[in-house]
Amino acid sequence: MSLQVHNICCIGAGYVGGPTMSVIAKNCPHIQINVVDINEERIKRWNSPDLNDLPIYEPGLDKLIKQCRGRNLNFSTNIEENISNADMIFISVNTPTKKKGVGAGEASDLKWVEASARQVAKFASGHTIVVEKSTLPVKTAEVIKEILEASQPSIKGKSEAKKFDVLSNPEFLAEGSAINDLQEPDRVLIGGENEDAIIALSNIYNQWVPKEKILHTNIWSSELSKLTANAFLAQRICSINSIGALCESTGADIREVSRAIGLDSRIGSKFLNSSPGFGGSCFKKDILNLVYLSKYYGLHEVSKFWESVVNLNDWNQHRISKLVVKNLFGTINGKKISILGFAFKSNTNDTRESAAISICKDLLEEGATLCIHDPKVEPNQIEKDLGLPQRCPNDFYKNSSESSWFFSRNYEEVFENSDAAIFLTEWEEYKNINWEMVSKQMRKPAWIFDARSILNTEDIINEGLYLWRIGDGTQY
Ligand code: NAD
Ligand code: UGA
Repeated sequence: MSLQVHNICCIGAGYVGGPTMSVIAKNCPHIQINVVDINEERIKRWNSPDLNDLPIYEPGLDKLIKQCRGRNLNFSTNIEENISNADMIFISVNTPTKKKGVGAGEASDLKWVEASARQVAKFASGHTIVVEKSTLPVKTAEVIKEILEASQPSIKGKSEAKKFDVLSNPEFLAEGSAINDLQEPDRVLIGGENEDAIIALSNIYNQWVPKEKILHTNIWSSELSKLTANAFLAQRICSINSIGALCESTGADIREVSRAIGLDSRIGSKFLNSSPGFGGSCFKKDILNLVYLSKYYGLHEVSKFWESVVNLNDWNQHRISKLVVKNLFGTINGKKISILGFAFKSNTNDTRESAAISICKDLLEEGATLCIHDPKVEPNQIEKDLGLPQRCPNDFYKNSSESSWFFSRNYEEVFENSDAAIFLTEWEEYKNINWEMVSKQMRKPAWIFDARSILNTEDIINEGLYLWRIGDGTQY
């Protein structure tokens, strides 16, 4: 008899937990869903009556929250009670790269996953299906199982034995398109051993995802497929960016090369946009995780291959700042540089591993004064990322020999007296910038660096501005 799920608890109300549970809540009104987190501030913002105050920005998310919150979707810090009432628990907590100890700099830090498993072990009752939603190294399910098994009452005869099944169900959503990715996934992957538990989870997805898109694998294949998918995607961006650099030196144009190779159906046309380097919380950490796993299993050539992807991406980020300095007569000390876009990609307020962080740090190191613009990122986040407090705009010009930055959403202020403007995130609104106004505001000779290849070349050069465009060997 198949297991019926009436009550879900999701541990972790982040970029994955929040959107994923919202989409399940929308499609499964018969299931009560409680998303819990230890971060009180985050939960407060998930419960905010002002939908502009949700802790993450994701197109379409506000509509879902409005529809489901208070109906069958709740956000809470009451972890104990919600775990105890659940018959299915998603673990959707952060798994960053370990900072110290064994595997530092490569392996995933599983302390939040382990803490979640211990909470489940302690508070769960009856039969509970535990679903790994976080991206995890291969064999993590074994650790989770061991922690859960250890919670069984050891005294013989004690009743209310707990029963657990562990499934792997990695998430493939991309930020900025998360709701659509969840609503219409290319596939849903479920790895596990217990057929009834697998069917119970499949039945949930099958409320809106066709059966043929729900794949069942063994648990280790499922865990490894997630790391592999991210590694392949990241490697593809690195490949195109490496060819982009070659285009700049040879007079070729990366857009033309991407189009030409993308028409080969074996290669495909997606994910071939050159950029200042991939960012986001996962690509780097997941590849480093593969590097660690390969080393652990003695596959040193494999680990070197994947390590080179991370190294190439780092190089690509730094080469952008070097190019800026070179084109501005070898020095940017005391010069004002406008940064357009701080998020790691458009349509998100997430800045984790954003190329903008290393590029801005390089420019600050060279003594520049930065004015940073982003439609969704908040200045306090930039402050944390740069490790440097924001300077008051009024004091900005008083002592220009000190590197500093300030934030502005006013385009006139962003470009005023600026020597260069660097476009780092592909926000749609940047395509509509008034170049006549920009040209009047900037100090000449003024440079535009289009590191996303999103701007209209003609409009910019017609206004007497110099232009550098990523992956383009033409001189403007
Ligand atoms: P996040 O940092 O945005 O959210 C994780 C949340 O878990 C945080 O709010 C944190 O407070 C909470 N948490 C940690 N330990 C907890 C505990 N013991 N009890 C309750 N709450 C706890 O992370 P995220 O971006 O949502 O990523 C989560 C996982 O999903 C990671 O493994 C990541 O690799 C994976 N993933 C992320 C994305 C993405 O686009 N961000 C996509 C696919 C997979
Ligand atoms: C990525 C994957 O696409 C998701 O499938 C996965 O679930 C997720 O990681 C995860 O595990 O966290 P995400 O990082 O949100 O999603 O966003 P992407 O669209 O993949 O972009 C990642 C980075 O690559 C961004 O900095 C983006 O600007 C860059 N990129 C993307 C390019 O430089 N060129 C491209 O053609 C595409």
